Amino acid sequence: MKKIRKAVFPVAGLGSRFLPATKAQPKEMLPIVDKPLIQYAVEEAVAAGITEMIFITGRNKRAIEDHFDKAYELEVELEAAGKAALLEFVRNVIPKNITCIYIRQSAPLGLGHAVLCARPVVGDEPFAVLLADDFMDVDAGQTPVLAQMTAVFEREGASLLAVQEVPRADTKQYGIVSVTPYRANLEQVDSIVEKPAPENAPSTLAVVGRYVLTNRIFDYLEGLGKGAGGEIQLTDGIAALMQAERVLAYRYTGTRYDCGSKLGYLKATVAMGRKHPETGPEFSKYLLQIK
Ligand code: UTP
Repeated sequence: MKKIRKAVFPVAGLGSRFLPATKAQPKEMLPIVDKPLIQYAVEEAVAAGITEMIFITGRNKRAIEDHFDKAYELEVELEAAGKAALLEFVRNVIPKNITCIYIRQSAPLGLGHAVLCARPVVGDEPFAVLLADDFMDVDAGQTPVLAQMTAVFEREGASLLAVQEVPRADTKQYGIVSVTPYRANLEQVDSIVEKPAPENAPSTLAVVGRYVLTNRIFDYLEGLGKGAGGEIQLTDGIAALMQAERVLAYRYTGTRYDCGSKLGYLKATVAMGRKHPETGPEFSKYLLQIK
């Protein structure tokens, strides 16, 4: 089975739940402590052995291109000021062997449409999709979530969706799957539906922002009309793909923070603030005090 070499980062959404912070900058540039969400996601892809990062961008997304580009003036100034440690951070935002490619989504027509925009660059390979606003944390020493998934893909050769249980009241925020047991932490997807009302949801097993997909998905996305919310939905493409190929649901090991929502973002900030080598000890002490 082919190795996964390419990752698609759809970053062309409006981020309306985070206005006004997202008025002039993408939500993927919001920092968790000192690193933007998109950098955590790229690091997760790098840890999975991926070398080609494909960003689907829209309006107000230039900051992402700038973030992964060389920052000449800043480097010169940090060097002149003798700030060697900071200079290293700035220079090592992305490893040297990684290629970044930017494709513009002309209008935010939906996640399915955003993924389809990557087709000319992905070609005939399987690929990963990472939604950077789903921030995936793992314990020290634990394999990052996307690397868990690419290992399963290499063994199974089937498209793979990261899933987790959610409260029934929340099903309308997710793609929801019904499944048949297959292996430990791995199930076969029997059906998938986007944002069902709690009373109609086939289960409470929700798809979250990590996918490994065979390139056949593009054939199905190509012909899709508008789905839930008037958007071209990746979920509908996966529902069509399932008729032709096996699709698996993977219960990942790790903690997901929904950083597209204010509460999830705050929780991630607290969790990472406690872990960060610079802020951890003092911040943890502070949290105990305010209790
Ligand atoms: P969301 O459903 O989180 O939408 O998109 P959003 O617009 O980013 O945020 P809200 O709901 O307005 O607050 C899921 C993912 O799909 C991307 C988003 O950037 C996000 O990573 N997306 C969505 C696109 O790239 N293009 C689209 O047309 C829609």
